[in-house]
Amino acid sequence: MAKLVFPKEFLWGAATASYQIEGAWNEDGKGESIWDRFAHTPGTIYENQNGDIACDHYHRYEEDVELMAEIGLKAYRFSISWPRIFPEGRGKLNPKGVYFYEKLIDKLLEKNIKPAITLYHWDLPQALEDKGGWLNRDTAKYFSEYANFMFYKFGDVVPIWITLNEPFVSAFLGYAWGWHAPGKKDMKGAFVAGHNMLLAHGLAVQAYRDGGYKGNIGITINVATVYPETNSEEDLKAAEKQDAFGNRWFIDPIFKRKYPEIIWRILEENNWSFVFPASDFDIISSPIDFMGINYYTRNIVAYDKNSHLGVKRVEGPNEHTDMGWEVYPDGLYDILIQLYRDYKIPIYITENGAAYNDTVEDGRIRDINRINYLKEHIKRAYFAIRDGVDLRGYFVWSLMDNFEWAHGYSKRFGIIYVDYNTQKRILKDSAYFYKKIIEENGVDG
Ligand code: FCB
Repeated sequence: MAKLVFPKEFLWGAATASYQIEGAWNEDGKGESIWDRFAHTPGTIYENQNGDIACDHYHRYEEDVELMAEIGLKAYRFSISWPRIFPEGRGKLNPKGVYFYEKLIDKLLEKNIKPAITLYHWDLPQALEDKGGWLNRDTAKYFSEYANFMFYKFGDVVPIWITLNEPFVSAFLGYAWGWHAPGKKDMKGAFVAGHNMLLAHGLAVQAYRDGGYKGNIGITINVATVYPETNSEEDLKAAEKQDAFGNRWFIDPIFKRKYPEIIWRILEENNWSFVFPASDFDIISSPIDFMGINYYTRNIVAYDKNSHLGVKRVEGPNEHTDMGWEVYPDGLYDILIQLYRDYKIPIYITENGAAYNDTVEDGRIRDINRINYLKEHIKRAYFAIRDGVDLRGYFVWSLMDNFEWAHGYSKRFGIIYVDYNTQKRILKDSAYFYKKIIEENGVDG
């Protein structure tokens, strides 16, 4: 079998997020976040679980970085808990929170692992939520102040910065569906929250540029390649709509200085007014260095006049993961080609991975299904590079099993197994598989 060898500088990494792994939810001066509040509200999370302790990474970060080094990671993507830095969202700084990240970054650098920081992976300070959260335009300004502080503190040693993780998910699941914090159910609010997030992103990019830092800054967008169920005109239109709503809502404003048509159509149809200064697009479209994408599955859609937007989801025929997501590696290739064709920007796959119901047998986790998942997707990443996409890196989701939002601890995405009773970590077979890929800088074709 021929080896598919990646470009020399290709960045192999793994990703996590603060609320999902850190625990220590109220230690050392950390403020409450909207996820603390949400998860502490009975009935929101699977079995009423929460991130109070999670993987206890706050106390075990050294061991965790050792494990990263054992796997051979070249980069580690993690997020900063904003209320750990500014417990009230702004104003008074919490030096102990800053010190935690300083120690983590030092440890990563000592092991030659490049830190890639996400500034916002959904844990907004509750104090800001109390002032309206993302529905309040001022939150964008407070975010850029927080970001500016982080740049000032770590801008010289951290080479990769991601402003927001998946604004679509925070806006839509958090504000329209209420499945995520802050648990609101108001579709119009989702557009407003989303806009303020984009503004926050743009202001942070400007702050980064003003500071003259040498690293790269971008944003992470969740994408799912869309396919029409049939080639009928109606299904093709439905697919186009879904692509605009699910993929481009947060991309077009950055690269094309406008929202996809569909956003305005939904607002109009519902008689919702949504007014903001046109100059917002000057801020939102501040040039970025890369686009981060999180890819897990595809979307097959058909026209259905009774469904939301006239678009109905159709289940695909392939194997599904424990999340109920269809495994479709070709979708990764297709979306990479599509995005590079449309936006001509360097891309990182900032998340890709699968949840499976892993079991420990004789101290070992034989997660063949995850190995296959990773292998097939990494192959498609290679094909995309071969076909001209400027793909710079791949981050597996996740470094370790963790708190999977509304699913609590019931979904295991890690390449490291976590026993939540003892906090013992075990490298799964997929971790060894990934280690080999990194060592060889390639995958069997
Ligand atoms: C993404 C999130 C990440 C994780 C994966 C499975 O949407 O960014 O935190 O939950 O899904």
